[in-house]
Formats: sequence, structure tokens, C-alpha cells
Amino acid sequence: MKDFGSVLRYHRVKGTRPQGVMRRWGVQELAGACGVAESTMRNWINNVNPPTEIAVIENVLFGDDPAGDDPTYAAWRRELQAAHAEARKARKAGGSDERLSDGSGNRATGKAPPVEARFSRLPARVPTHFIGRERELAQIATHLLSAGDRVATVILFGMRGVGKTTLVAAYADAHRADYRVVWSIRGEAALGTCEDLKELGLRLGLHLGSQDPSVASQAMLDYLAQEGRGVLLIFDNALNSKSVATFLPRGGECHVVITSNSHAWRNIGTPIKIEAWSTELGARFLVERTGEHSASSAAERLSIALDGLPLAHEIAAAYCEHKDVSIGDYLENFSANPVRLLSDHRHSPVEYYGGIAVTRAFEMAIEAANQVHPACGLLMSYASHLPDGPIPHCLFTLGSSYLGDFNGAPFTDDGIVEALGALKSFALINDSGLTSGSIVNDDRRVPQAMQIHRLIRIVSINYGIKSHYITESPEDTLIDVIKTALGKCDFFDNEPMDGRTGNYNTLIDYLHRLDHSADFAKKLSPESKKYLTQKYEEHVRNCQAWPH
Ligand SMILES: Nc1ncnc2c1ncn2[C@@H]1O[C@H](COP(=O)(O)OP(=O)(O)O)[C@@H](O)[C@H]1O
Ligand SMILES: [Mg+2]
Repeated sequence: MKDFGSVLRYHRVKGTRPQGVMRRWGVQELAGACGVAESTMRNWINNVNPPTEIAVIENVLFGDDPAGDDPTYAAWRRELQAAHAEARKARKAGGSDERLSDGSGNRATGKAPPVEARFSRLPARVPTHFIGRERELAQIATHLLSAGDRVATVILFGMRGVGKTTLVAAYADAHRADYRVVWSIRGEAALGTCEDLKELGLRLGLHLGSQDPSVASQAMLDYLAQEGRGVLLIFDNALNSKSVATFLPRGGECHVVITSNSHAWRNIGTPIKIEAWSTELGARFLVERTGEHSASSAAERLSIALDGLPLAHEIAAAYCEHKDVSIGDYLENFSANPVRLLSDHRHSPVEYYGGIAVTRAFEMAIEAANQVHPACGLLMSYASHLPDGPIPHCLFTLGSSYLGDFNGAPFTDDGIVEALGALKSFALINDSGLTSGSIVNDDRRVPQAMQIHRLIRIVSINYGIKSHYITESPEDTLIDVIKTALGKCDFFDNEPMDGRTGNYNTLIDYLHRLDHSADFAKKLSPESKKYLTQKYEEHVRNCQAWPH
């Protein structure tokens, strides 16, 4: 049987009303309708001091006709009455409706911490100029608040600096009335996670003092499986689903939000991808944050240059404010030397790992991906020299053997697939379609392709130089990589759905794009440029002679 608090909470969220028009009750609204203080209603919902009688509540939720003929309402009424009777009985018997674990696995120790404890630790300050994210906030609320009496888990994933931590802080702050406890937990390493879970237990009054953090954190999870209602746990910056799975509540009614760069979370909860800002939003932020209201056109251009990354917008605005320069001047400096401004940590918000620069944030991601597969840094450095836009996977899966061995590990096709997977899980590359602008591609298949955020490209190019990955002419090397890849495909192996044929067409298409990218083509040696043009013309001749 559901307890009294759960039943009340269910009807609050459902918005049960006598007229049958369901509209979610605010706690204050429900308290007002029942003629009690908001704190009293919160206590009831949390099973603390249940009311002596519930006629008014019944009236508010179900109407004043107990014999009414709607069977659902009659069943609800009976359920509430039964839950209330239980709660009263338990209270008379000594308050066992406030059962708690002491962390040792024993129940009802008599030293129960106060359930009504209310506190929160957010993962970051909500910025004064918090902007956008209305849709994402609504999505989080929908997933969590509609879960009923089960654990509900949402994962916010996306690239570094895109605003995941800020978003969950904003959600928790906006919904503080829905939770008695909001607790942010460091998600990147097991030790920090255990320590933060233990600290939560201590704050709740559990007797965990001398326990090892890993034991205490498991006791804390046992507690949450029973008493998780009204608790929001935030696991900030989790590496992946495997690393955090053992620290998630195994049952109960806790709400959980995880932030991560990794995209693969479907076994744990509902993933929500957090995208960079649109140009319009980015420009609005810059104007509001700097107060330079006449600069909307420069702000738009700067937002495009920053490719919508919120962290970079905040740094740019802070720089403008401190140095008293205009958005237009910042844009000019940025265009002349982006790496210098992206390496500036002095204007990075302290909320972002104590204030690290954009370059550092992405270099750390590349280094972490390199730990998973040693080719990641090199692949990123080369791929970043390709023009803006989708890059077909097959360019590297088929062509990177040209790059030889790497740290003793040969570039096998499988290895490259693994490396691309690692880059994706650190949000260094993004999935992308390759259909638009296609000249020779078969419409029936969408080749796998990736896209790299403009700022990550800038950082990776610089990282490639620093790490000596890049030879003198990366553009020519890339043409050789494509030559190698094309050598593994065959124009005449021509079944339309055949992967190799698809790859051939995809690569030829891509060559054509490179030829038309002035910035890329102008850096090529005359031989590479000639190859590019001739290969495409040869393909067109073949297509005419051997129409598919
Ligand atoms: N919605 C937003 N409104 C205003 N500033 C934001 C917003 N989202 C992010 N920021 C800024 O970007 C910085 C980085 O965001 P953060 O949430 O820490 O990124 P992530 O967790 O995705 O790495 C924040 O410190 C903040 O200054
Ligand atoms: Mg974060």
C-alpha cells in the first residue's frame, strides 16, 4: 500500500480536482486550498506529522460528495483514507512512519534523522544572465516529475562548456519547492563520488562518521532506496554509464540528473543532448551580459565565430567588461589570433573548474580520449585541418593506414572505428549526416560522418602542432589519406547498397568539396591539387561510360 505522503504527492503532481480538470498543484496552492501553511503541506507530503483528519483534503481533491459515482474518484478516496489511517496508527505506535536507516542496514534505530531536513548543494551558481534552455528545462521536468514512485534518471550530455552543469543547477533552483534535498556529487572519479554520497548521509544525520567512504556511500544508497522521495541527486561530469552505475539508487523514488560528455546512456535513463546556442541566443547573451546594446550585429558575428559555445561567450563578455573593450574589438582580436583568446583563463568563470581556459578544457578531453585509444590526438589534429562541415568516417577508417604505425599500434580499420568511438564519447566529434550538397551520392544511404565544433578544431590544430603530430603540410597528407582510402574502394563494384561502392561515391563527393573549399585547396601542393581535380573528372567520365 502507498503511504500517505506518496498518495498526497501523487494527487499534487497529477493535479486531481473535483471538476476532473487535472492541473498540477503547486505546494503553496494546495496548502492554501486546504487552509494550512505551506510548511505543513510539505510535512504531510514528506510523511511528517500527518493531519488528524482529512475531510478538507478529500474535499479539495475529490469534491464533497463521498458517494459520487465516478469509480476512479471513489477508489482514490478510499486509498487516501486507508493511507491516512495507517499513518495515524504508525504515529501513535511511536513515529515509525519516519523510519530511517542508520547506514548499517538496521532499520528504525530510534536515532532517526529528521526527515523534514531541507537543504541543497547545487553544482554551480546559476549565472545572473542565465539565458535560453526553456525547452530543456521542460524536458527534464517532464521526465522526472512524471516518473511517479520510481527512480527517475535524466542524463544531460554534450560537449564541454555547452552548459550542462549550469542547466541542472537552474533546474534544481527553479524546482526547489519540489525537493527537500538537492545534492550535487562529483561524478568524474569514484573516490569523489563516494565522499560526496557520504557527506550527504552525514548531512541527513545518518551515523556514518567512521565508515570508509565506499562503504558509507553504499549505505547511503540503501537509505535512498527507502527514503529517496523528495531527493534530487546530481552526478556532475560522469565519465560514462559504467563508471557511475554502481553509485545510482537501486530503487525508491529518488530523482537523478547526470551530466556527461558521453552519449551512451540508454540503459540508465533518458539522455537529453545539450546543443550549443543559436546565433540569435548567443548574440542576445553577449549584448545583455556586456550591456552593449548597440552592438547586436557585432555580437551576432562573434557568436558565429564562437560557434555558439556558452563558455566562450561568457569569457568573451567578461573580457570585454574587464578590459573595457567593445564586442567588435574582441571579434577583431579573436579573428586575428583565436588561440590566444581561447587560452585566456583569467576571464573564465570560477564556476568552470575554478576558471580554466577553453583550450585547456578541450586539450584535457583530447588527452582523456588518447588514454582510451592512442590514435585519438593524431586523428583530431588531422581531421581539424579539413574544412568546416561533415567529414565521412570512411576517409579515416579506410585511409589512415597511410599514417603508418602510431605508438607501435598500427592503424587498423577496427582500431580507427574504436578511436572515433572514443572521440565521440568525449564529445570531441559529433554525428552528422552527409546528404546535403551531394553530387554523386546515392540517396538511399546516409554515410556515417562526423562534425567538429569550430573551437575544438582551433584547439586541436594547435594541440597537433604542440604534440608534434602534424607534419609540415597536413593538407597534402590528408589528400594521401584519401588516395589510400579510394585505393580500397572500387568504382566497378557497383551494387547501390554495397558499402564499398557507397564509400567510393562518398569519398569522391568529399574530394569535390575539398576542391571547392578555397581555404583548404589553396594550401595544397600543385600535385595534390591536380590529383583532386583529375580524380573527380575521371569519376564523372566513368559515370557517363558506366551509368549505374
Ligand atoms: N544557459 C546559460 N546562460 C548563461 N550562461 C551560461 C549558460 N550555460 C552555460 N553558461 C556559461 O558557460 C559556462 C560553462 O557552462 P557549464 O554548464 O559549466 O558547461 P558544461 O557543464 O557543459 O561543461 C558557465 O560557467 C556559464 O558561465
Ligand atoms: Mg559541467
